[in-house]
Amino acid sequence: MARRLAVPVPQAVADLSADWLTDALHQSGAVHSARVTSFTTGTPGSGRGFTGQTFRVALEWDRPEEGAPATVLLKVPSADPGNRGLVEKDGAYDRELDFYERFSADFPVRVPRLYHSLRDPGPGPAARLRTNRLIDRLPESALRFVGRHARRLVRPSGRRYLLLTEYIPGARTTTMEDYPPDGDLQEILSALARIHARWWRHPDLSDEEVVSWPTVTQTPRLMHGLYRARRSEVAERWPHLFTPELIGLTDWFGDHIEDLIDFINEPLALLRGDTRTDNMLFCDDGLVMVDFGNLGSGRPAFDVATLLSSTLVPGADAPSSLPGTTTRPWSTRGWSTIPWPSSATTSTSA
Ligand SMILES: Nc1ncnc2c1ncn2[C@@H]1O[C@H](COP(=O)(O)OP(=O)(O)OP(=O)(O)O)[C@@H](O)[C@H]1O
Ligand SMILES: [Mg+2]
Repeated sequence: MARRLAVPVPQAVADLSADWLTDALHQSGAVHSARVTSFTTGTPGSGRGFTGQTFRVALEWDRPEEGAPATVLLKVPSADPGNRGLVEKDGAYDRELDFYERFSADFPVRVPRLYHSLRDPGPGPAARLRTNRLIDRLPESALRFVGRHARRLVRPSGRRYLLLTEYIPGARTTTMEDYPPDGDLQEILSALARIHARWWRHPDLSDEEVVSWPTVTQTPRLMHGLYRARRSEVAERWPHLFTPELIGLTDWFGDHIEDLIDFINEPLALLRGDTRTDNMLFCDDGLVMVDFGNLGSGRPAFDVATLLSSTLVPGADAPSSLPGTTTRPWSTRGWSTIPWPSSATTSTSA
């Protein structure tokens, strides 16, 4: 297998050129004869990413041509090797390219049009699973060590990734600091329902050449090691958030992590993943979804829960702890066999 593509794959704005942009847009079929003469780059007006670098690229053309975009969006991996290694390890760059190459042309929700995508070859799904299983079977102490030094130990592979897509101008998003209006929330939920319904128990989900990622990590013990390695420092800084009850719950989660992750990952539908509202662009024609770095198969409730966990204003009578064993509404499969922690069985008022 070739280790690298034999073509340039810009990984920073400095690697771009008018000729490269012209060729990429010609190959996409969107433009036939007009050529880019110059371009300027900036950050997207609606927000800024962390896992990747996202640039708005405004194009000047040598002649008018129908279909020649005035602006495109360039997305390349993070320039920070620590971030890039961790994000790549969980497949975020491959997941997003898989989405645009395999699903974006016929998706039940509007997404930016793909113009060009490039990535160096990498391991296939079976090889990836083998490596991940080996890593995840390391002893607890080794996993914590890896967790503590993850940013230095999990190095990026050197593969290059690039996406060039339609730019959605003038969009409105809700950041993590605000709550979205009810109308936006409803529109996002019904868009998620269309995605989940389209791929509900679909044969694509068992074809690893089509959907090759579980929604949640293939290395649950390693990810938990990451959390455990840093937990005490974080808990000391925010003791009002990391209450003994919460720590008890996360310990329980850690003790049962493999079963719980298997449960979430049961491939019932295609999940868009990362349903944070800053990935939901609202423009005059309605909702456009971006950021597919967590695409995978799994349990649709996961997409919905991710969205609601940061978007619902807690009600006056919201419970401050999870319900006890007898009232768990979701104990239909899997969860019911896992002993529930005693700290979560009492319910206190908000
Ligand atoms: N096609 C687009 N048109 C207009 N704005 C966009 C487009 N794609 C992304 N954006 C804006 O850029 C922001 C960052 O993009 P994106 O979420 O894809 O990057 P990321 O690095 O994966 O982000 P993060 O790590 O924060 O989730 C988005 O929140 C959105 O506001
Ligand atoms: Mg994002």
